[in-house]
Amino acid sequence: MQGIGRTFFASALVYGVLGMLLGLHMGISQNHGQMPTHAHIMVVGWLSFAVFGLFYAIYENTVPKLLARLHLWLAQVSFAGLVIGLWLLYSGQSQYEPFVALSSVAYAASFLVFVAVAFPILQTRSA
Ligand code: HEM
Ligand code: HEM
Repeated sequence: MQGIGRTFFASALVYGVLGMLLGLHMGISQNHGQMPTHAHIMVVGWLSFAVFGLFYAIYENTVPKLLARLHLWLAQVSFAGLVIGLWLLYSGQSQYEPFVALSSVAYAASFLVFVAVAFPILQTRSA
């Protein structure tokens, strides 16, 4: 594995470990107040980013480099914002709601960039 695929997959491994640590903390403390934070770290950070990683590992040489790079960094930055924002929000700090909203819109935008990267590959035929 190399390049963007490797970066996405490596970050997914890190998020998976962090998300499970949070899950364990929730279970042990019997306080599930951060469930949405845990759920998003797991399904976005681990599962989605692992899929992106595998996708780029397969199509590394086919995808437009600049767009793929934009997807990587917009996804990483907005995901970090989303998770930190959710953590603050579910700690009772509702003043961070606009930050969560901004991060959410940015994450949605990063997914649209991924669609722009991946969709043309649906039209390509393998030899
Ligand atoms: C060490 C492993 C894990 C622990 C200790 C753990 C712990 C928890 C706990 C305590 C909850 C809250 C349950 C509730 O209040 O109803 C939860 C919810 C959740 N977990 Fe985990 N979890 C783990 C791994 C995972 C993994 C691997 C995934 C996904 C790949 C995942 C995805 C979710 C989701 C999506 C929810 C929300 C479920 C809902 O909406 O009802 N978790 N987890
Ligand atoms: C655009 C950014 C996103 C926003 C603003 C967002 C927002 C939310 C909100 C408000 C909830 C309800 C939380 C609650 O129980 O009170 C939720 C639940 C959930 N979302 Fe998201 N979401 C986003 C992206 C995603 C993505 C991309 C995935 C999957 C890949 C996902 C998976 C889930 C799951 C599994 C739950 C149920 C777990 C729970 O109840 O905490 N979300 N989301």
